[in-house]
Amino acid sequence: MLEIKDIIDKAVQGEELTKNEIVKLLQIEEEEMLKYLYQKADKVRKKFHGDEVHLRGIIEFSSYCKQNCYYCGLRKDNASLGRYRLEAEEIVDLAISGAQLGYRTIVLQSGEDGYAADKIAYMIREIKKDADTAITLCVGERSYEEYKLWREMGADRYLLKHETADKEFYQSLHPGMKYKERIERLHWLKDLGYQTGGGNIIGLPGQNLEHLADDILFFKEFKLDMIGIGPFIAHDQTPLKGKEAGTVEMTLKVLAVTRLLLPLSHLPATTALGSIDNLGRQKALKAGANVVMPNITSSKYRPLYEIYPAKICINEKASDCRQCIGGIINSLGRTVATGRGDTLY
Ligand code: SAM
Ligand code: SF4
Ligand code: FES
Repeated sequence: MLEIKDIIDKAVQGEELTKNEIVKLLQIEEEEMLKYLYQKADKVRKKFHGDEVHLRGIIEFSSYCKQNCYYCGLRKDNASLGRYRLEAEEIVDLAISGAQLGYRTIVLQSGEDGYAADKIAYMIREIKKDADTAITLCVGERSYEEYKLWREMGADRYLLKHETADKEFYQSLHPGMKYKERIERLHWLKDLGYQTGGGNIIGLPGQNLEHLADDILFFKEFKLDMIGIGPFIAHDQTPLKGKEAGTVEMTLKVLAVTRLLLPLSHLPATTALGSIDNLGRQKALKAGANVVMPNITSSKYRPLYEIYPAKICINEKASDCRQCIGGIINSLGRTVATGRGDTLY
C-alpha cells in the first residue's frame, strides 16, 4: 500500500492515479502533507506554464435564466433578483474596453437567457474585428447549430462546467436538465474545435469524496483545456439556503490534485474562492492555478449577477480590478501574461 507521499510523487512523475488513490489525497488533513501537495502542484504549474498568469476579462451580460439549478441565485424561480440584459452593442463596447485594458481573452457569460444566436454571432464578429483577443463563450446549453455558428464567427473557447460527474447527483441538483445532454454538448464543443472548459463545484450538500474523485477522473478522461474548480456558496433564494459552503481547503486539494494529473490544463483561481477567503485566489495561485478571471462588467450590473452572495469585486470598476489583480500577481512573484493563453494540448 502506497503512503500518501508516494501517491503524490507518483502523480508528479506523470503516472495515473486510481480513484482510491485520489480519494486518499482528498482525505489529507495533516498540515505538513497538505503543504507538500500544494508545493508539488505549484512546481508542476511552474514547469508547464512558467510564472505567467493569464487574465480572462469576464462580461456577465445577462442575469436572465430559464433553468432552476438548485445552487444558483440566477435560477428562474428566484423572483427577488433584479434581471438585466445588455444590448449587443454595449457588450461589444465593454469587450473592446477590456482589450484596451490588456485582456487577451474576453469571456461572455450569462444565465440561460436564450439570447438570440445571431446577436451573439454579431458580437463575436464585431469584437474580433476591433480587438486582438480570444473569445470564450459561457452561455449554457444551446443547439449544435448555434455552437457551430459561433465557432464559425470566430469564438475560440467554450465553458460548460459539468458541475458533477455523478449522474444521479447531477439529476438531483438540476431539475429539467439531463446529465447525458450536458456531456453530449461537451463532446460537440470539442468536435467543433472549441478549446473546451469544464469544471465542478466543491462542497455541494450531499457531495462526497468519491464524487470529487470522479470529477477529477472526468477532467482527465475528457482532457479538458480549462477546468473551473470553485466552492459552493449558499444563496438565500435557492433550495440550498443555509447550507454550509464548500471549504477553502477542499477546493485547494481538488485544484492541486487536478494540476498534478493535468499539467497542461488552464486552471483558474476562482472568484468564488476569493469570495469565501480574502486570500483565496492567492492560495489557489500557489497550489496549481495559472489563470484569473477578473470582472469587466459595468459596475451598475455587478450586484445583479448574484450567483451567490458576498461576491467580490461588486463595487469596483473594470480598471480597478485590472490594477488590483496585477498587484496580487506581482506580489506573488508572478507576471501577467501578454499572450492569449491558448490551450497547450
Ligand atoms: N448559465 C451558464 C451555465 O450554467 O453554464 C453559465 C453561467 S453560471 C452562473 C456559471 C457557473 O456558476 C456555473 O457553472 C456554476 O458552477 C457556478 N455557480 C452557480 N451557482 C453557484 C454557487 N451558489 N456557488 C458556486 N458556484 C456557483
Ligand atoms: Fe442558470 Fe447557469 Fe445558474 Fe444554472 S448555473 S441557474 S443555468 S445561470
Ligand atoms: Fe476586483 Fe481585486 S480583482 S477588486
